[in-house]
Amino acid sequence: SGQTVIGLLQPLLDPGLMARLAARGVTAISLDAIPRTLSRAQTMDALSSQANVGGYKAVLLAANSYGRYFPLLTTAAGTARPANVLILGIGVAGLQAIGTARRLGAVVKAYDVRPETKEQAESLGATFVTLKTVIDATGSGGYARELTPEERAAQQAELNGVIASMDVVITTAQVPGRRPPLLVTADAVRAMRPGSVIVDMAASTLGGNCELTKPGETIVTDNGVTIIGPENLPATMPAGASAFYARNISALLLGMVKDGALHLDFSDEVTAATVITHGGAVVQAATKKLLEPAEPAPTGGASA
Ligand code: NAI
Repeated sequence: SGQTVIGLLQPLLDPGLMARLAARGVTAISLDAIPRTLSRAQTMDALSSQANVGGYKAVLLAANSYGRYFPLLTTAAGTARPANVLILGIGVAGLQAIGTARRLGAVVKAYDVRPETKEQAESLGATFVTLKTVIDATGSGGYARELTPEERAAQQAELNGVIASMDVVITTAQVPGRRPPLLVTADAVRAMRPGSVIVDMAASTLGGNCELTKPGETIVTDNGVTIIGPENLPATMPAGASAFYARNISALLLGMVKDGALHLDFSDEVTAATVITHGGAVVQAATKKLLEPAEPAPTGGASA
């Protein structure tokens, strides 16, 4: 009781744990609940800092598994053509992946369902893939919404054609609170050339962006496509990831600690969003809502 725990606690995935922390008198602060689009909160945004590490490392893994060059290389022994790399999902990880693949000299294409990402991808030197079926799936808070079954089918059908001509595909697409969208079907993998590489950054127990991904494993399909399903890429670059994460936490504490003690001002947007439990109660609105008992179903007015 009286202790404070700070981390990426994902309160909405396990509200019961938050209730137990509250009952113990623990103050729980969750960095993943930070309002992402608030500019003042950017230095505290651990989801962004870790996604950045992940996007960079995903490209290195792909380059390491790909048996050819990423850049165009002209040598006395011949010319190597540059690798064609497709980045699916242009959030924080996707943008870092575009930048890293470009720096290695690859020809990069990128696709997302939020139209504003086109300009961001192009500013980093990628070509934005425009599908004939226009899908604007902008959700709230800068995130994407889940696609309808019809939109999903149309997207998969069109993406299949693009994926077949790629040497490397890196997928980063996520929708908050939902299974990651399925963007690379088994049929699309079967149409890829032997030696191609897929890195599925959305790989988790919920499934990934590729139908054939095995979370935590690297597999090679019958047609010679390597599919890498890393579960925690930032942990494979511990010093770099921890340096950013420490900066996120110190930025958060600078706004919450005065004279060596925690001073929580719940009228502050960051405090209201990130402090999940305090004073023996669950105080963050979204988590509190999940813990409320479901409303009784209407009786319809008839009495027995
Ligand atoms: P995320 O990890 O939730 O998703 C990654 C990407 O996948 C997103 O760009 C999303 O649009 C895309 N996606 C989802 N479903 C898809 C589908 N079916 N097909 C193709 N792409 C799909 O996103 P992340 O990286 O956490 O970023 C979330 C938002 O927060 C973004 O809008 C980002 O720009 C914003 N952000 C803003 C900051 C700021 O303004 N200071 C700082 C950090 C993030």
